[in-house]
Amino acid sequence: MHPDAFKGWSAQALTRVESALGEWVPASAPAGLGEAMRYGVLDGGKRLRALLVLAAAEAAGACATPEGREAALRAACAVELIHAYSLVHDDMPCMDNDVLRRGKPTVHVKYGEAQAMLAGDAMQALAFEVLTPDAGEGAGVPPALQARLSRLLARASGQSGMAGGQAIDLASVGQALNEATLRDMHQRKTGALLRASVQMGAACGGLQADSAAWQALSDYGHAMGLAFQIVDDVLDATQGSEVLGKTAGKDADANKPTYVSLLGLQGARDEAMGLLQQALSALSRSGLGVDATAPLRALAERIVQRDH
Ligand code: IPE
Ligand code: IPE
Ligand code: MG
Ligand code: MG
Ligand code: MG
Repeated sequence: MHPDAFKGWSAQALTRVESALGEWVPASAPAGLGEAMRYGVLDGGKRLRALLVLAAAEAAGACATPEGREAALRAACAVELIHAYSLVHDDMPCMDNDVLRRGKPTVHVKYGEAQAMLAGDAMQALAFEVLTPDAGEGAGVPPALQARLSRLLARASGQSGMAGGQAIDLASVGQALNEATLRDMHQRKTGALLRASVQMGAACGGLQADSAAWQALSDYGHAMGLAFQIVDDVLDATQGSEVLGKTAGKDADANKPTYVSLLGLQGARDEAMGLLQQALSALSRSGLGVDATAPLRALAERIVQRDH
């Protein structure tokens, strides 16, 4: 895909996601909760998970029907809600204790710890509300697809995914993990949600879990999920806070085991490049066609080559 074509594709996708989130995250939530939620979700973030959902949906042919398009947009917003909630909680003093996120003060700095905790809770619930619209809402999403999307997102968010990985992360401070344990932590805390993004897009196109295309897209998501967190570790060690929009150098300061602390900068970069190749070769064997998978290819390169 030509870089300009990818730019156009992602600009259009991002416009849809931002406008849907703006509509669905309610300003009217009581006692300032709505303001804190909107502050944490809107107006910031690269939205890479949403783009993965939409790119996988396109690869799987979901865009051919209004129901498929509606389901993919809802899944894209739902995963961003879960992700934003995970960031709000990750930044709290009881976790990473960060004051800067997406170039702004973190939610707990701006609204207090109790409101940050509740904003995260409410975002998590809202994600599943967005995935399960009433029959009269929008183009309609078939109930079986709603259930499948909810299950994919729930599994990636809870103890077997993000929350479990975050528990390992906190329990590992100051420890030198071996590569298998570190990989497991990264795959859970970050990889699971990225893989689920790809799988949700694939589900919107009706791909069944026993198909070769589903397996190939899952492999792609698995490789990109791990690569994403490895690159996050590299950027934490190499970029400034201005570029990242969050405090740089935190991992070393907090004595967290990362791919950089285990393999060194070059070793971590090589690992991410190897995973990019795995992801691209998974796409090649998906049988989904070069044009249909072009946005997924471009996104994989962006995830590994990004500077923030
Ligand atoms: C940061 O994720 C947290 C990790 C899981 C590594 P992103 O880098 O996707 O953060 P935003 O959404 O763009 O702010
Ligand atoms: C966070 O990992 C993963 C989450 C599930 C939020 P990090 O703690 O490395 O994320 P950043 O660097 O604060 O964005
Ligand atoms: Mg963390
Ligand atoms: Mg953090
Ligand atoms: Mg980090």
